[in-house]
Amino acid sequence: MAKVKVGIIGGSGYTGSELLRLLCKHPNIEVIAVTSRKLEGKRIWECHPFLKGFYDISFVSPELKNMEGCDVVFTAVPHGEAMKYVPQLLDVGIKVVDLSADYRLKKDVYERVYGLKHEGYRDAAYGLPELHRDEIAKAELVANPGCYPTGCILAVAPLAKAGLIERIIFDSKSGITGAGIKPTEFTHYPNLHEAIVPYKVTNHRHYYEMVQELEELQCDVKVSFTPQVFPGSRGILTNAHVFLKDRIDMEEIRRMYEEFYADCYFVRIQNEARLSWVRGSNFCDIAIFPGEDRVVVSSAIDNLVKGASGQAVQNMNIMLGLDEKTGLDFPPLFP
Ligand SMILES: NC(=O)c1ccc[n+]([C@@H]2O[C@H](COP(=O)([O-])OP(=O)(O)OC[C@H]3O[C@@H](n4cnc5c(N)ncnc54)[C@H](OP(=O)(O)O)[C@@H]3O)[C@@H](O)[C@H]2O)c1
Repeated sequence: MAKVKVGIIGGSGYTGSELLRLLCKHPNIEVIAVTSRKLEGKRIWECHPFLKGFYDISFVSPELKNMEGCDVVFTAVPHGEAMKYVPQLLDVGIKVVDLSADYRLKKDVYERVYGLKHEGYRDAAYGLPELHRDEIAKAELVANPGCYPTGCILAVAPLAKAGLIERIIFDSKSGITGAGIKPTEFTHYPNLHEAIVPYKVTNHRHYYEMVQELEELQCDVKVSFTPQVFPGSRGILTNAHVFLKDRIDMEEIRRMYEEFYADCYFVRIQNEARLSWVRGSNFCDIAIFPGEDRVVVSSAIDNLVKGASGQAVQNMNIMLGLDEKTGLDFPPLFP
């Protein structure tokens, strides 16, 4: 069978290189075009030495003509930039998985939250396969979810779907690759090592994505979210403090989670959720703890895999009618 031809816009960044890592062993895919403005003409391994021996192509500029021949393109660029490429790609019949925030929110919410006018808005399927598999299968454009919303939404979806939640407080800790490849004062080593740094404590943009999705599951859900960064590379650990409308037996809650995620290979119900048990993999591990006043649900993901590029490949697989595990069915890197 002929391989599906894939392009990546934004191949020099963290999610772009993670896409390259995952796709080089995908049995149905050939990556034919990868862009970088600053590295145009350079071999892929010159930017990503860890990929030496896996790709023979060079970076190209992010122009539409360089994506010719692609069946699917991943846009792995900052928000506000993806919208410059996505409509052009769709107009020539290329399917797109966008890793940025540009197509995740309703247009008016996006413009308010991101302070940008949205040029060329298109409807997209929200790329959380555990909740939207059927829409993704039919979509030409998939908006890959944010890293925090992935872990947060999966942690509480079964309880929200059952309409049981009074309020949720998401407390999330992320590794620093979530901030992208460009060094900043915030990510500078002395400012971050031996520290856990809260930021955008009550006003992170991913909050709006969580609310939009959770309200689809349960209309009256109340959500709070506080992100923090820890001095590691990968991973997001979320503790969701879930205050329920009524007291529910712990066994019953566990059964609800097992049932809700019965067909979801990449969600694993564990006794504990640890970053070291999901690193490098597309798994989201979930653990449930009963408390006197609340239930705490922990989720652990690798932000670059289930929180970004792995989920993007999972979405592509579903869009192409492939088994969603294809190219992603390997265990995490432990320890
Ligand atoms: N990092 C994560 O954990 C994570 C998780 C989920 C979603 N995301 C989202 O995924 C997207 C990419 O994130 P990232 O962490 O990979 O960022 P990154 O490491 O900063 O890489 C961004 C890439 O985009 C390219 N780029 C920037 N502006 C561009 C433009 N106008 N046209 C074409 N290419 C452009 C850059 O390449 P050149 O300068 O070489 O052209 C760079 O390689 C972002 O929207 C981010 O919010 C990231």
